[in-house]
Amino acid sequence: MADRKRRLEENTSRVDSSCDLVIEDCSNRRQYNLDDIRNKTIHGDSPTALEKMPADVFDAVFMDPPYFLQLPKKDLIRWEARTIARGVDDEWDKFPSFEEYDTYIEKMLKGVQRVMKPSATIWVISTYHSMFRIGRVMQDLGFWILNDVIWVKTNPMPNWLGVRFTNATENLIWAVKHKDAKKYTFHKDVAKKMGIGSVGANVWVLPICTGGQRLKNENREKLHSTQKPIELLKRVILVSTNEGDLILDPVAGTGTTGYVASALDRDFVMIERSRKYVDGIAHRFKTPPQISKEPEPGAQKVESYIPLEDG
Ligand SMILES: C[S@@+](CC[C@H](N)C(=O)[O-])C[C@H]1O[C@@H](n2cnc3c(N)ncnc32)[C@H](O)[C@@H]1O
Repeated sequence: MADRKRRLEENTSRVDSSCDLVIEDCSNRRQYNLDDIRNKTIHGDSPTALEKMPADVFDAVFMDPPYFLQLPKKDLIRWEARTIARGVDDEWDKFPSFEEYDTYIEKMLKGVQRVMKPSATIWVISTYHSMFRIGRVMQDLGFWILNDVIWVKTNPMPNWLGVRFTNATENLIWAVKHKDAKKYTFHKDVAKKMGIGSVGANVWVLPICTGGQRLKNENREKLHSTQKPIELLKRVILVSTNEGDLILDPVAGTGTTGYVASALDRDFVMIERSRKYVDGIAHRFKTPPQISKEPEPGAQKVESYIPLEDG
């Protein structure tokens, strides 16, 4: 707390410089103290790194695991624009079978469950491709689901072939680590501002990550195919954590979780296996974000056309 006060007074960032941000996980490192890893990104395999951390230390977790999308190999052509849509075709999203995907998710979630405080909550995001499998694994491991939140995308990937609905949603499961967990953080006034209708229902309407927010590689292509928008993480963090809390993201990608946590005066630990994304995170932290604590104005409009009321 004293450290946080000092930072506020000196107006310095939670991450002092981007080169201090990354820790290389290696086999001769047996254990991590919290002070070693607070506000750091660990470059390494998540279950392996989690095993080296003390139990019961994190106040919240945001986990955005591989979707296992299994998209067809052929190109998706936008016929009118004569361009090719780039879906998610990354090696990290590929698994030989559902069974191996389930084993991967279970291992990751077991590691995460151990390091969560008894009062901590976890958010797991995915799409219909894997959400139901993840939900089952979570329940089998004893996580207790508090809500799901449906994220409605205002700018989803178009459905080129017209043979099914345009998929404009992702789901977030919000859970505690055991059924008997008590005193978890939930800011209901914040929740009301975010969800639709006067009740603040569990539907969030916001765009996918585009434009200046999107990290680019040296060829000006997007660095990561599934970078999450800042507004999504802002909501997760504001509604379920307090200033000074410690937040874990075990599959960090471009580091959106830590980036937003840091701007909102929370601490973080992130883990990411890919060198190029870890480098992207280090670069990203050179420009700290300015993030307002209010939801984006666009989200407010939803009330006018879906007027939900208390039942
Ligand atoms: C869906 S992406 C996360 C995107 C992230 N939320 C963002 O905003 O950029 C999943 C990430 O998990 C990483 N990953 C997958 N398995 C991992 C593992 N075992 N350990 C560490 N990172 C892993 C992948 O490299 C990928 O970047």
